[in-house]
Amino acid sequence: MSKYILPVSVFGTVFGAAVLLKNHVTGGPCPSKATIKGKTVVITGANTGIGKETARELAKRGGRIIMGCRDMEKCETAAKEIRGKTLNPHVYACQLDLASVKSIREFAERIKQEEERVDVLINNAGVMRCPAGKTEDGFDMQFGVNHLGHFLLTNLLLDKLKESAPSRVINLASLAHIVGKIDFEDLNWEKKKFDTKQAYCQSKLANVLFTRELAKRLQGTGITVNAVHPGVVATELGRHTGLHQSQFSSSVLSSGGGSIPILYLSKSGNTTVMDIGF
Ligand SMILES: NC(=O)c1ccc[n+]([C@@H]2O[C@H](COP(=O)([O-])OP(=O)(O)OC[C@H]3O[C@@H](n4cnc5c(N)ncnc54)[C@H](OP(=O)(O)O)[C@@H]3O)[C@@H](O)[C@H]2O)c1
Repeated sequence: MSKYILPVSVFGTVFGAAVLLKNHVTGGPCPSKATIKGKTVVITGANTGIGKETARELAKRGGRIIMGCRDMEKCETAAKEIRGKTLNPHVYACQLDLASVKSIREFAERIKQEEERVDVLINNAGVMRCPAGKTEDGFDMQFGVNHLGHFLLTNLLLDKLKESAPSRVINLASLAHIVGKIDFEDLNWEKKKFDTKQAYCQSKLANVLFTRELAKRLQGTGITVNAVHPGVVATELGRHTGLHQSQFSSSVLSSGGGSIPILYLSKSGNTTVMDIGF
């Protein structure tokens, strides 16, 4: 019996420490009780993970939610589920493939034609550590989807956001940006050996740099721009890596009670619970 005491206590300590660390890093659920009736929110990659949870929460708070997803079947299913759970009928599924400039332009055009206003744009969709691959337009998949696609979408919707001010843009970044480097000579991994981890970190650093520059350029327009590090959340993001799929990581990651804490990186680099309401 005594031979099990040491391994069991080591496991208990490691597990407990991992849960405490996770709770410390993620900060806790958003405390805001604000409602957003009359506000329109556009959110990319909303059929699963953080995007779906955010869409659900904002639908619960009364917003008109436009979910932009590449797989319409998954998107319709998620939108239907959210409408059913929140009893908010204004949750819409819309085709958007961020790996295609054509699709992004069509999506933005549809929003501009059909929506009276866009109060919040949440650039959430992302792909992490996928095998080497290119978008329809020949960009590295992670740089293309995570940064360039959202860069284009945001710029196409800027006039609408300005007309709807006070409005906001929220970019889902990651603490992974800290080890990212932007290789301006070879953004698409054509001259050097492909490194999928670095490609993700480069794309997430691009999210942060884009946020800072856009925030600066939009000063005085009534549009605020923030980058969010969402914490470490059990989603499908690790589908190419196995991360979030082991028994250990899923136990630790799901131990927070199911809510998604939302943090943002301020200019000083601090993380704080973000008020997603108005
Ligand atoms: N989870 C974490 O711990 C964590 C940590 C730091 C940062 N983040 C960031 O949080 C964001 C959301 O990630 P998540 O964890 O919720 O991941 P997820 O569960 O894998 O969700 C990613 C979403 O992005 C969509 N997507 C991928 N490629 C797309 C494309 N070409 N066009 C349109 N949509 C596309 C996916 O659609 P499909 O379902 O069709 O693939 C899915 O809806 C990402 O930007 C990620 O970098 C997450």
